[in-house]
Amino acid sequence: MVRFTLPALVAPASFTPTSAGRLVSPAVALPARELTIDDRLVHQLVQAARDASERAYAPFSQFRVGAAVIMANDPKGTLFTGANVENSSYGGTICAERSALTSAVSAGFHRIAYLAVSVRDALNGPVCSRSPCGLCRQFISQFCDPAAPDPSLIIIDDGAPDTLGQVFDIERLLPWGFRLQK
Ligand code: THU
Repeated sequence: MVRFTLPALVAPASFTPTSAGRLVSPAVALPARELTIDDRLVHQLVQAARDASERAYAPFSQFRVGAAVIMANDPKGTLFTGANVENSSYGGTICAERSALTSAVSAGFHRIAYLAVSVRDALNGPVCSRSPCGLCRQFISQFCDPAAPDPSLIIIDDGAPDTLGQVFDIERLLPWGFRLQK
């Protein structure tokens, strides 16, 4: 286990008068967050996401993505994995993150503990700094509870040999996500 800090994320608001009323750029203000992470488990998850990316079905994009997730409140700590599965209709394609999460949620678990994502390019090498698409961010957010003392963490494998991953909570990954409730 290691302690780490998610740094504060602050973007001030701006207000610009126009002939039809003011134009608002809303503020973002996320305080810094002190957290503990199970680095050994995350390492295992990143490895599982890499392995899952090998099983991607990506004949159209050649862009192979793997995801691995452990859900909170799962007494067995099951490691659910998924890969992107493409379809000739293109629109029928499912991303790796949603592929892994549909398995986890179908098993009855509704809150992410850790979700790791790994991307490989067509040359089978690691691709740095890829992160979930907007649709997946929204899908992931459904299974995160930002108010929990142990928030869901999303770890992105950046391929660097000296890096465990890039870590986000859902508020940092999707600051303006859609919610039905406040
Ligand atoms: N893809 C994912 O699996 N996850 C993402 O977050 C972004 C994109 C997949 C979908 C498609 O098969 C390929 O990557 C190229 O977009």
